[in-house]
Amino acid sequence: MPTRNTSEPAPGPPLLTAVASGKGGVGKTWFSVTLAQSLARMAHRVLLFDGDLGLANIDIQLGLNPMHDLGSVVSGKVSMPAAVQSCLSGGFDVLAGRSGSGALAGLGPDAVEQLIAGLAQMPYDHVLLDLSAGLDSTTQRLTAAADILLVIATDEPTSLTDAYAVIKLHEAAVPGGEVRLVINQAASDTAGHRTYATLARACAQFLGRTPALAGIVRRDERVRDAIRRQMPLLSRHPASIAGADVARIAGQLSLR
Ligand SMILES: Nc1ncnc2c1ncn2[C@@H]1O[C@H](COP(=O)(O)OP(=O)(O)OP(=O)(O)O)[C@@H](O)[C@H]1O
Ligand SMILES: [Mg+2]
Repeated sequence: MPTRNTSEPAPGPPLLTAVASGKGGVGKTWFSVTLAQSLARMAHRVLLFDGDLGLANIDIQLGLNPMHDLGSVVSGKVSMPAAVQSCLSGGFDVLAGRSGSGALAGLGPDAVEQLIAGLAQMPYDHVLLDLSAGLDSTTQRLTAAADILLVIATDEPTSLTDAYAVIKLHEAAVPGGEVRLVINQAASDTAGHRTYATLARACAQFLGRTPALAGIVRRDERVRDAIRRQMPLLSRHPASIAGADVARIAGQLSLR
């Protein structure tokens, strides 16, 4: 059951924000969950969609036991609204993937378009898509449909080159599309800005455009602890460094 009263008409289609990275394990799922919780705390209606169709795991990070998931929606067993589950501690709703089965990885283009059309009709202010790492065709379709693409990178060289590849592909598919960078697991704010400058320079030089900085998220042991406890970070640690960093990014998104 959704957290909010979804029988109220929404003012318009939700803002679709996709969270992507080239390299895996940089923090997309944790960041998406925390962004969802931050936006919910700003009184936005938020749906977090597990768009990692190969190895879905939002439900695991949150300790949820979904009755239905995306697999049931795709197979036509239930409607999309009926498959939504609330994350009560987070204050947002979740459309779970199918954990670990990889069953949705090979969805055809029509099924993906149908999913995107379904999401656009959901009664929320924000739909957040937590995507899989890499650049498979489904991920590319989902990123192309987003209003804003948040690309997450860390200071690891492979993470930076892979993030650049995602931005390049997205620019080819959606010229001028809105891309913002999140530098995660930064040792400090200054170090994070240095990492952003490196990536921004490469984009300016080779793509002729500089993606904006969404924000720096610092490395914080409390992130790991919250994930281990299967709790949203802001519930487990209301005053963490990384939580405050994500809340600042949510503040910018909420202005849209
Ligand atoms: N700001 C941070 N501070 C400390 N650890 C972090 C931070 N962000 C992410 N991590 C660590 O990185 C790990 C991977 O995070 P997460 O599962 O969200 O990455 P992902 O990009 O979704 O991975 P995948 O590509 O496999 O889907 C987490 O288990 C956590 O320990
Ligand atoms: Mg993930």
